[in-house]
Amino acid sequence: MLNKIGNILEELKSTKPVSKEEIEQFRIKYLGKKGIITSLFQDFKKVPNEKKKEFGQMINTLKKQALEKIIELSNSLEQAEDIVTKNDLSLPGDILKQGSRHPVSIVRNEIIEIFSHLGFTVSEGPEIEDDNHVFTKLNFPPEHPARDMQDTFFIYKNEDEANRQNDILLRTHTSSVQVRVMENQKPPIRTISPGRVFRNEAISARAHCIFHQVEGLYIDKNVSFADLKQTLLYFSQEMFGKETQIRLRPSYFPFTEPSAEMDVSCKICNGKGCNVCKYTGWLEVLGCGMVDPNVLINNDIDPEIYTGFAFGMGVERLAMLKYQINDLRLYFENDIRFLEQFTYAF
Ligand code: DAH
Repeated sequence: MLNKIGNILEELKSTKPVSKEEIEQFRIKYLGKKGIITSLFQDFKKVPNEKKKEFGQMINTLKKQALEKIIELSNSLEQAEDIVTKNDLSLPGDILKQGSRHPVSIVRNEIIEIFSHLGFTVSEGPEIEDDNHVFTKLNFPPEHPARDMQDTFFIYKNEDEANRQNDILLRTHTSSVQVRVMENQKPPIRTISPGRVFRNEAISARAHCIFHQVEGLYIDKNVSFADLKQTLLYFSQEMFGKETQIRLRPSYFPFTEPSAEMDVSCKICNGKGCNVCKYTGWLEVLGCGMVDPNVLINNDIDPEIYTGFAFGMGVERLAMLKYQINDLRLYFENDIRFLEQFTYAF
C-alpha cells in the first residue's frame, strides 16, 4: 500500500499538464470525487492501526503536492497568456479619449491671439490685491459704490477710513493690472491682462461671484480715440466675423475720460432683431475709453506727453455670445456633457 502511494507521488510529480483542459483533467484524476487521492482516503479505514500514522501522513503529502501543482501550473499558464496578449504588437492600441478645452479658455486664448497680432503683450497681476491697485490709483472716488462691501470681497478692511488704500481684497476687475504695469514699465505700453475677478454677487444665470476678464491698455505719444475705435473694430471682426459692425455708446468709468461701452452687431439675426439681442440688433461686449489723466498722474506718467486708451471685457460674456450659452452657471458646474461640446483650434 505504502509503495503504491510512493508510485502515485512519482507519477504525479512527473506529469506536466500544459493547457487549461489538461490541468482540469489532472485535478479530476487525482482530486475529483472518484479520483485516486479521494479513494485513498476511503481506504484509510482498512489500514492496520500501526500503519495508520505513516499512511495518513503520506496521503496528506500527496494531496498537498497535487494541490500545489495545480496552483503552480494555473499561475504559470495565466502568466504565459498575459505575456502573449500584452506583447502582441498587432493588437489595436487603446483609444485615449481626447479632452476638450473649457470654453472660457478657448475664448481667452483667442482674445490673446487676436491682440498679439497688434503687438499687445500679456501681463498678469495678483488676484488678492490692495485697494490702492484696484480702486485708489484708478481714480475711484472715496465713496464710489464699487468699493462697497456689497460688491467687494474684503480680506482685510482697515477700521480707519484714511487707511482705506491698504485694505486687502479680491480684485473686482483686471484694471488693477493696468496700475501694476504702469508701476513697472515706462510708455510705450501695449498690453492685455487676462485674469480671474471676484464680486460679491448672488449666483444666477446672468451673474456669478467669479468670472474672467481681459483688460487692455495702450499708452504712447499721440494715442487717440480713433486708435481705440479701430483696434476694437479689428478685434470684433476677428472674433465674430468680418461682417461685424461696432457702435460706441457714451458711458462712465472713473479711470477713463471719455468712456464708452461697445456693442457688436448681432450675428444671429444680422442686426434685424432676435431674442438674443433683445430685438435691438446689438450686443453689449465691453467697456472702454481714453485713460483718465488722473490715472496717468497717479502712476507718474506725464499726461502732457502721453495719452492712452483702455478697455475691459468679460470672457464668459464673449463666450456666451460666440457659442450662444444662456446660463453663466454652466461654466462652473463642470458637467461633462456641456464641456464635451467644445473643440480647440489652437
Ligand atoms: N473694469 C471695468 C469693469 O470691470 C471694465 C473696463 C471698462 C475696463 C472700461 C477698462 C475700461 O479698461 O476702459 O466693468
